[in-house]
Amino acid sequence: MDKGFEKKPYGEEYFKPQVVKEAVWLGGEALKKAPKIEGVPSGIEGLDELFFKAEVDPQTGKVVKKPLGGIPKYAVINLTGVSDTGKSLMAEQFAVKRASEGEKVVFVTVESPAPFVVVGLKERATAMGLKFEEFENNLVIVDAASNHRLRNNLPDLLETLAFVYKTYKVKYTVIDSITGLYEAKEMMARQVVRQLFNFMKKWYQTAIFVSQKRSGHEELSAEAAGGYAVSHVVDCTFVVAKELVLTHYQAKLYGAEIGDLVRFFRIDGCRLCGHDTRLHLMEITEVGLVKIGPPLSEVRKRKYQKKEGT
Ligand SMILES: Nc1ncnc2c1ncn2[C@@H]1O[C@H](COP(=O)(O)OP(=O)(O)O)[C@@H](O)[C@H]1O
Ligand SMILES: [Mg+2]
Repeated sequence: MDKGFEKKPYGEEYFKPQVVKEAVWLGGEALKKAPKIEGVPSGIEGLDELFFKAEVDPQTGKVVKKPLGGIPKYAVINLTGVSDTGKSLMAEQFAVKRASEGEKVVFVTVESPAPFVVVGLKERATAMGLKFEEFENNLVIVDAASNHRLRNNLPDLLETLAFVYKTYKVKYTVIDSITGLYEAKEMMARQVVRQLFNFMKKWYQTAIFVSQKRSGHEELSAEAAGGYAVSHVVDCTFVVAKELVLTHYQAKLYGAEIGDLVRFFRIDGCRLCGHDTRLHLMEITEVGLVKIGPPLSEVRKRKYQKKEGT
């Protein structure tokens, strides 16, 4: 009998509890390996000012709130909303902005084939006043929309991403959308997202995962296809929503006219740094640029003050 076979981990030995020493860290040791909290300019007007960290003012010794000036570096962000809420535009703006600053970005497209995505990226660059041809090769597109192996077999996608990270020294990953990776098997959502999340951490990526809401989900919640699985796994969740103004009450509430489409943006949570938690108005300009506007509370305050002044 082959003794080697007996030694394989099927026996009692395998089930005996073991100390996993490599999982135990002293705070100081872990801190040495920890990334510094800093901001990455996102290319989305109004977004970068919404993140903070606590710092001790050397003069007063008091703890002060310091703006990050960008989205937190090394964060894996879930960007969720129903269709046509500006998710793809925001993901494109972020990819273009990073690439235009000389950094490599991989854009994994799960919905629209690569030639269509590149047109969108180019359009976004033009709208942002940037010359696409100056940085077009800083953008690496992985076309999982046209390739069913990448879409349906996660190990293939991870292997392809590892190849891209090594070959092009990529620091930023956009996936539009992760929902497409577990379509028709939503109970797999947590598992798929968990593996992708761990992979992003292993490769020190700052990442945006777009996820889709179904019509039954509450518009301004972090819930998306696969339930709350996605938002539980990731570091931050951004929620985008839209609403058609049909009543005087809504018009008054949003400072809009009946028939207007109002858009909203909210940071639902972020475990890496402090952040604004208010509901903000959002705009998509005629050339397709997303801008985060003031918080709704301030719009109402300003309107109220104006009325009082007149
Ligand atoms: N190139 C563009 N120019 C102007 N507006 C655009 C452009 N692309 C998209 N939009 C507007 O932005 C909306 C949101 O688009 P998109 O980001 O693709 O939505 P999502 O990815 O959330 O489904 C669209 O419904 C459209 O009104
Ligand atoms: Mg989209």
